Amino acid sequence: MYGTEVIDPDVPLNAAESADYDAALAGSAAAGERPAHASFDALIEADQRVEPRDDMPSAYRKTLIRQIAQHAHSEVIGMQPEGSWVTRAPSLRRKAILIAKVQDEAGHGLYLYSAAETLGIDRAELLDMLHDGRQKYSSIFNYPTLTWADCGAIGWLVDGAAIMNQVPLCRCSYGPYARAMIRVCKEESFHQRQGFEILWNLMRGTDAQRAMAQDAANRWWGPALMMFGPHDTGDAAQGGGHTEQSMAWGIKRFSNDDLRQRFVDMMVLQADRLGLTLPDPDLRWNEERGHWDFGAIDWDEFRRVLKGDGPCNAERISHRRRAHDEGAWVREAATAYAAKQAARATSATRSTDRLHAAEPAA
Ligand code: 3HC
Repeated sequence: MYGTEVIDPDVPLNAAESADYDAALAGSAAAGERPAHASFDALIEADQRVEPRDDMPSAYRKTLIRQIAQHAHSEVIGMQPEGSWVTRAPSLRRKAILIAKVQDEAGHGLYLYSAAETLGIDRAELLDMLHDGRQKYSSIFNYPTLTWADCGAIGWLVDGAAIMNQVPLCRCSYGPYARAMIRVCKEESFHQRQGFEILWNLMRGTDAQRAMAQDAANRWWGPALMMFGPHDTGDAAQGGGHTEQSMAWGIKRFSNDDLRQRFVDMMVLQADRLGLTLPDPDLRWNEERGHWDFGAIDWDEFRRVLKGDGPCNAERISHRRRAHDEGAWVREAATAYAAKQAARATSATRSTDRLHAAEPAA
């Protein structure tokens, strides 16, 4: 449930470790087929990992770049709502935990940008696309953190939703993304527990603290449900989203709706333990389905936020652009240092070569 038991060590991670790939490839050859991307199709059929140098259809590459970049941008923008609480967290212990958490998000962004770069795109280009709005980041980070309880609600609900969505990505068909997600999920599981613990303590505090925790849960519940993305099952399956193709390629393992339902089922029980009421009058156990029914999601709000009209879109992106501009000198200094190091290494190699050339043959 917390993302720590995500990988079965007995299941091979790479095609080379399994005979399934050869079998699938031999199968298509025996059938006299040799379609474009046959080796890719065989990997997908054998449920094995596609690696950066493997042949892959350009649409698969494009989908992964979009999803991994959006995910990386979300981690980096996601540092802002809680980052603003580092100096205001109520104790030294809370400050230390929050700093570690926000730092983890930066690290997740780095793993993910690196995974995206293995698909042949530069991180600088991805950041340009974030800054000029050609790529998205998660809707959830456009909401404000008004009180300390919001840090608890983010950890509990937002990181809880993130884990539910991201554990299956440890089995994504693209190797670098899947491997990055193993560490991300382990760290997210710590984030979720720290959010739960913040709320647990507030719920066992004063009336004002309990009210603050409830208010935060009220405001974050709906946006957390939207994190999973638009409906993509039943009639909505024909709605033109990416799920069907991404599942056929083994990028997504479950539909948005399935993951959202699992999240609701898990959170109802946790809310009960915390003593919080989830703000949905339609929440009720459905014996027939074996799941919790829940009320309609405000998709108009979701679309508004995606269009840039959420409570904090402008603030988030302008802060991000400013941080990027102010960090330009660091990037330039690092590039100049790397160039100097490379030039030194080349001249040292040349001197050694000259020395060897001047030595008389033995
Ligand atoms: N926020 C913004 N855009 C969203 C969205 C959301 N919550 N959910 C869906 N969308 C967008 C999609 O990008 C897609 O946009 P496009 O049509 O312009 O390409 C469109 O809505 C249709 O959605 P689909 O379901 O068809 O899109 P996907 O197949 O990409 O599924 C997803 C969406 C489930 C979010 C999937 O991309 C995914 O699993 N991504 C990886 C996880 C991720 O990015 N999580 C973000 C949160 S990270 C986080 O929370 C950090 C943690 O530390 C808190």
